[in-house]
Amino acid sequence: MTFRQKHLLGIEGLHPDEIRTVLDLSEKYVDLNRSANKHGDVLKGLTQINMFFENSTRTQSSFEIAGKRLGADVMNMAMQASSIKKGETLIDTALTLNAMHPDLLVVRHPHSGAVNLLAEKVNCAVLNAGDGKHEHPTQALLDALTIRYAKGRLHRLSVAICGDIAHSRVARSNILLLGKMENRVRLIGPPTLMPAEIGAFGVEVFEDMEEGLKDVDVVMMLRLQKERMDGGFIPSEREYYHRYGLDAEKLAHAKPDAIIMHPGPMNRGVEIDGTLADDINRSVIQDQVEMGVAVRMAAMELLAKNLEAARKVPEDA
Ligand code: CP
Repeated sequence: MTFRQKHLLGIEGLHPDEIRTVLDLSEKYVDLNRSANKHGDVLKGLTQINMFFENSTRTQSSFEIAGKRLGADVMNMAMQASSIKKGETLIDTALTLNAMHPDLLVVRHPHSGAVNLLAEKVNCAVLNAGDGKHEHPTQALLDALTIRYAKGRLHRLSVAICGDIAHSRVARSNILLLGKMENRVRLIGPPTLMPAEIGAFGVEVFEDMEEGLKDVDVVMMLRLQKERMDGGFIPSEREYYHRYGLDAEKLAHAKPDAIIMHPGPMNRGVEIDGTLADDINRSVIQDQVEMGVAVRMAAMELLAKNLEAARKVPEDA
């Protein structure tokens, strides 16, 4: 198996073989998670600390379940009740926790690059659970696993990522991963929600949903990230839904077997029709949640093994 990373900070630094390694191991955990006895012991004796400086339902709970299923001692830092509220910095908080000898640190932070900075200061493995508009690597990996299960492959697919691309770390990590695995990526959305550096992404860009969705295999909808908007990016949610909300009429332009994805949380009636989101013949949104636990188990196992190997190397080697 190929996986040489010390941390999982983004998709950007991963080799396609490393992505395959995570996905292959995740499949083992999908099977374990579907069985009656869900427990393994590859993280037994290790300490995992989850530090979420932003709200989360899926990512935090799945990291916690993943760690516990693999035998780790898992601690969720209650950031609202921490000394951050007294003015302690992110780095001082990380150094304080680092002194307690954790092995895995899972971090979500509102600022792009904050998790990379933190990783330089600690001597355990750090997993980025989403940093600002930068990256959300485990989300892209779980999306990739979901696509691989649904389509039987993860190459030469046409994938449309639709909506608020500009504010989305999910979009950025997915663009990177899907590109590395030789898929065609189309971005669809209003110009106000496209990042300025779009030309560097190696993707096709569409302003019109029906044109952009034509014959795609995968339709990935994104949430309007209102918490990251500091101005009027859309005329109104009603107008946005009319032009960019996924409904049956727009979906009809995709391939007949195209799957619908959404990282969650969803704004029903804003970026996606609620009935379509719940249509088990087209929507794999609940599968994405299931894959999230397996991918996080695999990522933590691989990082823990690399950490163990690094700790065995003598200082003067
Ligand atoms: N997809 C995702 O990151 O969801 P949460 O914000 O609920 O973790």
